[in-house]
Formats: sequence, structure tokens, C-alpha cells
Amino acid sequence: MNLKHLLSAKDLSKVEIETLLLIARQFKPVVEKGEMATLLQGQTVVNLFFENSTRTRTSFEIAIRKLSGSVLNFSTSTSSVQKGESLIDTAKNIEAMRPHCLVVRHPSAGSPGFLARTVNLPVINAGDGFHEHPTQGLLDAYTIQEKLGKIAGKRVVIVGDIAHSRVARSNIYVLNKLGASVAVCGPPTLLPPEPKSLGVDFSYRIEPLLKDADVVMALRIQLERQNKMQIPSLSEYSRFWGINLERAKLLKKEAIILHPGPINRGVEIHSEVADGPRSVILDQVTNGILIKMAVLASICNPKGLKQWNC
Ligand code: CP
Repeated sequence: MNLKHLLSAKDLSKVEIETLLLIARQFKPVVEKGEMATLLQGQTVVNLFFENSTRTRTSFEIAIRKLSGSVLNFSTSTSSVQKGESLIDTAKNIEAMRPHCLVVRHPSAGSPGFLARTVNLPVINAGDGFHEHPTQGLLDAYTIQEKLGKIAGKRVVIVGDIAHSRVARSNIYVLNKLGASVAVCGPPTLLPPEPKSLGVDFSYRIEPLLKDADVVMALRIQLERQNKMQIPSLSEYSRFWGINLERAKLLKKEAIILHPGPINRGVEIHSEVADGPRSVILDQVTNGILIKMAVLASICNPKGLKQWNC
């Protein structure tokens, strides 16, 4: 595997995805035993976040530290972006300080790709607008594989604001390549115009999809990416598409429920489901560290990784 950047899940081959999941699994004992690996020793990674984040930024930071790297968290609210400095000038100035890798989150789709073409550094996409969130797609696949044993042949139902969701897009690319069958569901205004062009089935109603689902992934309504609210109200959304206990009862015994976070309790998922026995939401968060370690080590120190354990 020769990963220079990680810009999208669409760009990854099946073999690359499987390899990253395998590497992530090998980091599990390191994280569980509270140990460290030295694969990023002497390297500095900059978390360049132009949008808020809890899980992604923190798990990248923990992954970098677990690999013995140094991390610098750049926050737009306290930076010269507030004085009008552009994305490219910001990135070029950070490049001039000689870090080894940029992790970029930005509200504009394509920003990490633009930076990858402009600065001479590896770039990892930590979420760009409604385009992609590749590490989320990978950590969700890892979690499904961990809980259900395999992904090929599984039925995954993604419900919510598919049209504005970078998480949905990255998951669809990863899960389709690994042989899952994916269906998307939501109100017509929150589905992309041609869902089938993404290689998925779709339904406007959730109930018919639930009995065959092995995995249900509930997504937040991305109000920040909608010009105006595209559903009548959040309570109506919850009534027709929210994953509540009654709907969870329609699932197979072994089916699991995912959510990338942040959760809006009582809207797309109800507390008794989010905190219930089928929920693997916090496992997703833990697994996010393993995936980020796998991606960082593969990009920043592939030779060391080969000698390390894999
Ligand atoms: N899943 C996810 O991207 O969460 P954050 O926005 O908190 O990083």
C-alpha cells in the first residue's frame, strides 16, 4: 500500500480498505493495554480544523500521541483566519514551520484535496463539507466487522439526512467495496436526487427496511449545511424516521445500531436506543483511535509500519 494522502474513501481500493482495517486491528492491544508505539517519533502532525469537532479532533490527537508523535491543534477561532487570512496562506505558513502531516477539517467540499495539491505535505481529510469523511467510513466498517464478524453480505440501512452527509457518502463507498448491500432512507428532501447512482437502494419509509437490516446507522439532520430547513419540523422528522424503541423492536435479534455523533437525542435516535444493548456508538468512538493510528502510520511511516508488526 502506498498512501500519500487520505482525501476520500472513493479513492481507496478494496485492498487498501482491508489493509487499513487489518492494521487498525493490530493497534488494538496497544490502545487496550495503555501502551505506546513509536511509529511517529520525531514527527509533528497539525490538526487544522476550520469546523467544530469533538470526536475526530480528539481521536486524531490521541492517535498521534499513541504513536509517539507531536500534535499541534490549530483552532480557527484563535488564529489569524479571524483577521482575514486565507486557507492557502494559513496552510503555506504552517508548512513553513516544517510539520510532517496535515489533518484538515473544513466546511468547503474539496478543501483537503486543494491543500494536497498546493502544499508539499501529506493531507488527511477529517471531513470536508458534504463531500467525505473517510476515517469515519473506515471506523464504521471496522466496528461492523468487529461486531458482526464480516461485512460482505450484510444489509446496512443508513437513515437521515443523506443528501448533506459526508458520513453517508464515505460509508457507502467503503461498505459497497467490502460487499455490503446498502439502503438509504429519509424524507425525499433529504435524499440525493439519484440515490441509485451511489450504488444503494432507497426508501422513503424506514419500517420496511428494518426487518432485513443487520446494521442501522442513524444520521443527524445537518442544519448547518441546508440553505433552509428541508423538513417541516424536527418533531415530525422524529415521528416518521427517528429510531425509537418501537422501531428497534422490528430489527433482527443480532442487529446493531450506529451513529457517528454528535447525537440529537429524541430526534434521529431516542435515548433508550442510543444507550440500549444494540448500540455500538461508543465502540465507534474507541475504534476511531485505531483507524487514525492505522492511517497516520501508513502515510507517515510505511517502512516503520512494515517492520513494526504487519
Ligand atoms: N463523527 C464526527 O465527525 O464527530 P465530530 O464532528 O465530533 O468530530
